[in-house]
Amino acid sequence: MSVRIFIGVAWPYANGPLHMGHIAGCYLAADIFARYHRMLGNEVLMVSGSDAHGTPITVRAEQEGITPEQVLGRYHPQFLDTWQRLGITFDLFTTTHTENHQQVVQQVFSDLYGKGYIYPAVTLLAYCPGCQRFLPDRYVEGSCPHCGHERARGDQCDNCGRTLDPQELVEPRCILSGETPEFRESEHFFLKLSAFQEQLLEWVRPQTHWRANVSNSTTSFLEGGLKDRAITRDLSWGVPIPLEGYEDKRIYVWFEAVIGYLSAAMQWAQESGEPNKWEDFWKDPQTKSYYFIGKDNIPFHSIIWPAILMMYGHGLNLPYDVPANEFLSLENRKFSTSQNWALWVPDYLDRYDPDPLRYLLSINMPETGDTDFTWSEFVRRNNEELVATYGNLVNRVLSFTYRNFDGKIPTPGVLSEIDQQMIDTARASMEGVGDHLSHTRFKAAIAQAFSLAQETNRYLDTKAPWRSIKTDREDAATTLWNAIRVLNCLKIVLAPFLPFSSQNLHQFLGFTGQVEDESWDFDQAIASIKAGNPLREPKPLYTKLDPAVEARESQLLGGPVA
Ligand code: MF3
Ligand code: ZN
Repeated sequence: MSVRIFIGVAWPYANGPLHMGHIAGCYLAADIFARYHRMLGNEVLMVSGSDAHGTPITVRAEQEGITPEQVLGRYHPQFLDTWQRLGITFDLFTTTHTENHQQVVQQVFSDLYGKGYIYPAVTLLAYCPGCQRFLPDRYVEGSCPHCGHERARGDQCDNCGRTLDPQELVEPRCILSGETPEFRESEHFFLKLSAFQEQLLEWVRPQTHWRANVSNSTTSFLEGGLKDRAITRDLSWGVPIPLEGYEDKRIYVWFEAVIGYLSAAMQWAQESGEPNKWEDFWKDPQTKSYYFIGKDNIPFHSIIWPAILMMYGHGLNLPYDVPANEFLSLENRKFSTSQNWALWVPDYLDRYDPDPLRYLLSINMPETGDTDFTWSEFVRRNNEELVATYGNLVNRVLSFTYRNFDGKIPTPGVLSEIDQQMIDTARASMEGVGDHLSHTRFKAAIAQAFSLAQETNRYLDTKAPWRSIKTDREDAATTLWNAIRVLNCLKIVLAPFLPFSSQNLHQFLGFTGQVEDESWDFDQAIASIKAGNPLREPKPLYTKLDPAVEARESQLLGGPVA
């Protein structure tokens, strides 16, 4: 039975190009998951967009002497191009700077205000006497009141993951001037989170399918006590407050960005010509909603966004799962834009194919702990695993068949026990990979798919059709026909991870159309391999990389900003 899957993916700040850390953090996992569910025949809606507001954008604009709109106008199209080239298949990738988004945010704000869940109060905000202005949360640093971490930011402590207000910091300082900020009075709107602590805990506790890092940090956060939080700021860039007298203030980026998941679904429905269709993904309790994010965004998606949804009501679905990844480092150092310690995705795509990166970041995904990207591992895994294990398997089966059986799928004889075992293994693998993917275990899924490729190589070594062709042509034909059936399964189980090379394999196998339109169905996959059907002349699926790649790329790291 077909089900509906809503996939929300973290909204990247449009203040610079995407680097590998972003891809490993959430975009790749979300895309694999979406592709898998589409092949299962489920209805998927995957949305996100450029986070256009907030300090990261205004800082960038100030640095370059341009407007925040210009910053957005540069990076948003670049993001779209990156998704295209890397094969990240959003149904809609919009921005938070649309008329539609503003309307939806203001409507939610007014609704919550009407119910008393948003209320005005005078608060103390950080004002820097040196800079002579109110400081955005991220401009204030100090020690974390919870864990003592010395470089906690005014919005969050990256060490213990708790969200913070600037006044909570011990020994706060302005990151621009280094001066100690004063806390001046200003009237702002607060979100009544305190009223939802119990309800949230009751909702979170039974979520036993959540990853341990997500449920542990969420539960301890909730048990620590929820405080009401200011959701407006003294700014001129962002979504205006829909009430009179607050023209010089804006809705805080975190409150409005998460509402993007809802507004984007509405925009998608509007654009698809069925304006009410978003309700299928938001109001049908059978729909499962997944939020793919990095670990620094956990509380916003496991607490604040669900709290907003509880307050708003209107029958909207709460998250079903929040599969947050941990962090990727680069050659054992944290990614840093300012030190140019980063691998920019557009640069990577200028030099290499998308699938080797998708492969490495899948097999080495920071799923339950941090992982590291090194060029030496990239080259090694490309050469030993993609080229030697999988690419070579495809090539030896298809080239040999193409040459010896007139470019057609051979006609098999009777299957031996070994042949039957091979195809049974393929069936079990497809089930296993599917089970892992359904539970967002991406590393285990791709590892199982690759062990099927290894298993198939062993099968070929045992049956050696290049020898039997001279003595028992029918047995050689049986082996190759059987191996081609397994390749057709590999094409499908690897399609969510390696969509570009699966498409090539799909064509070598003689099919037309798109591999993503194939079904995740074992019986169908093997039944569609029919004796006598023409193959296409195969070419290598992957390119071997020269070890010099490692030295060349390592030299570029940390160099001057291009
Ligand atoms: N742009 C923010 C970040 O990257 C928030 C992303 S998730 C959102 O950290 F849903 F809140 F937008
Ligand atoms: Zn802390």
